[in-house]
Order: sequence, then C-alpha cells, then structure tokens
Amino acid sequence: MNTNDAKKKDILVLAIESSCDETAAAVVRNGREVLSNIISSQISIHTEYGGVVPEIASRHHLTNINGVIDKSLEEANVSLDDIDLIAVTNGPGLIGALVIGVAAAKGLSFAMGKPLVGVNHMYGHISSNFISYPELEPPFVCLVVSGGHTSLVRMESYTKATVLGSTRDDAAGEAFDKVARVIGLGYPGGPKIEKAAKDGNPDAIYFKRVYLEKGSLDFSFSGIKTAVLNFVNSERQKGNEPKTEDVAIAFQDAVVEVLVEKAISAVKEMGEKKLVIAGGVAANGKLRDELARRCAEENIELFLPEKILCTDNAAMIGSAAYYKYIADGADDLSLDAYADIDW
Ligand code: KG4
Ligand code: ZN
Repeated sequence: MNTNDAKKKDILVLAIESSCDETAAAVVRNGREVLSNIISSQISIHTEYGGVVPEIASRHHLTNINGVIDKSLEEANVSLDDIDLIAVTNGPGLIGALVIGVAAAKGLSFAMGKPLVGVNHMYGHISSNFISYPELEPPFVCLVVSGGHTSLVRMESYTKATVLGSTRDDAAGEAFDKVARVIGLGYPGGPKIEKAAKDGNPDAIYFKRVYLEKGSLDFSFSGIKTAVLNFVNSERQKGNEPKTEDVAIAFQDAVVEVLVEKAISAVKEMGEKKLVIAGGVAANGKLRDELARRCAEENIELFLPEKILCTDNAAMIGSAAYYKYIADGADDLSLDAYADIDW
C-alpha cells in the first residue's frame, strides 16, 4: 500500500511501546479509534529498588513483549494479517528498553511484509489527545509533562512541533520522583505525592515558584528539589519531623502553579484559543483541576487526555504512527533506537 491508498482505506496499526518500564501494545484504527490497549506495568518490580533499573526493565520487556502483542491482537479481535502498519517507539527513552520494542517491530514487519514506522515518544504523548478528542486538529499549543521531558510546543501539523520553551534542568515528573524519594514516599513518585498531598495542609509550608526571566517559557525544577531537601533537613536539625503530607502539597502546588501559568502564557502569546496537555504528569488531579479553573477564567478551550492515555501506552504510538505514515511514508528495516531524539 502506498500513502495515497492510505488516505482511501482504513489503516489498522499495531503499535509497540517499550521506552521505559511499561511493555505495551495496541491496535488503533485510523489514528483515532483504539481497538485494544494492553499495558504490562513493571511498577511492582522496580518499587523495591526505589526507581526504574534499566537492565531489569530490558529483561522484563524481553520476557513480556510477545505475550503483550498477542493479547493486543486478541482483544482487538484481529489477526496479524489484518494489520496494515507496524509502529514502534524508537526514542527517546532507555536505550536497552527501546531496542526490545524496535527488534520486535522489525521482526514482525519483515516476517509479515508490512510497513514499519518508528515513532518519537513525545509525539506519541501529544497524539493521545487525538484519541481522547476525535475532533481535535492542529495547530494548537501543547504542554508536554513527562518523567523525561517538560516542554511547551506549538503543534504546527500532526507531525511537526515547534518548541516554545523547555526545562533547563529536571523534567517535572523527574522532580516528583526525586522529591518523593527525599520525603520517603518512594517510587512511583508522582502518584504517591498526589495521594499524600490530599491530606496535607496547603498553608503549612511555601516553596518559591521558579518563573525564570520575565516572558520566558522555559522551566526549571531542580531548585525546588533542593529547597525540599533543605527544608526537611533544617526542620530535622531543629528536632521537628515535617509532616510528609504538608511537604507533598507544598511541592505539588508550587510545580502545578508554574506549569499552569506558563502554559496559559504560551497560549496567549501564540494568539491561540486551545491548550492541549500530554505526558505522565498530566494524570495529576491537582494539575488537571487548576488547568480547568484557569482555562475557564481565560476563555481557553482545554484538552486533557484520559488518565490511562497520559502515562506510557502504545495506543498513543499507534495514533502518532498513522499521521507520520500519511505524511512521510514508512521507515525501512535499518530503523534504530535512540536514547535522545530531538523534536
Ligand atoms: O509519560 P510518562 O509515563 O513516562 C515518560 O515518558 O517519562 O511519565 C512518567 C512520569 C513519572 O515521573 C511519574 O512520577 C509522573 O509521570 N506521574 C505523575 C503522576 N502519574 C505519573 N506525576 C504527578 N502526578 C501523577 N498522578
Ligand atoms: Zn512517556
């Protein structure tokens, strides 16, 4: 099938995702309709180490990937013969984890004679919105907040993002994970901080919001991690044990405020009316609530993917692959995995 035919008939994508600690496969029709979305999480395995251990992640991907792919086909009620396109995340991510998915996808593509498309994980995250919102089309401003990235981008088309601002140090999710470790909540940090914050007193502690230079759409989250550490240590030296829940809510509020205000500024600066959110941190309830409140005030239309599509999954990769295939065609079997890929 060539890309012209692609515009005429349905395209069923089998998508594979293994960039971090989720082994995932999905079947997606025409970039928008999810027929199956299987996620095998390794959270319980990595919890005992306090974070993702890359070597262990790779081994589990290897053990799980064929079963996850089979299950995605079975749940979608299709066979490999019915699939038009094999898609896989080929970066950014943990290199040893990525290569497992890429090898599986290349094997299937070669054995079945099906086209192969490598997908940038960040475009995948953004594309989760095309599943949650079937009417959504570019251009739009998107806040991408994950464990490895925090950026504000303008999606010019389905396949081209212009970066408006990025973190200069830690990603927002990384800050959640590091602070969770400092205050003894452990891994996975984001959901544990969110849960603890529900019982915190919002007025007990205040951490400074880091906005950088006036007008900047960049972020910096490494300072708040140090601020939390210093606060906890100095309280302990005074003989006080700070309440975990109070630290959690103070940290979460500081990060959320900056994410929300910078995202709103980006939308206004671009003269847009839509704000789209993507990435694992977008599953955070406080961030979702604050975005909804501020977007309503500013008359901005907000797009938030379902929580299961915020964190790593293969359905979003299937969506991004569909649009990449329509725009640029397929990759060949020399497709490689990259720990870092640019936008
Ligand atoms: O997008 P993602 O699943 O993987 C990457 O591409 O990095 O994002 C994972 C990140 C982790 O840092 C995790 O702590 C954070 O997303 N996260 C959350 C929540 N759920 C996941 N952060 C805050 N609140 C949450 N509920
Ligand atoms: Zn991700």
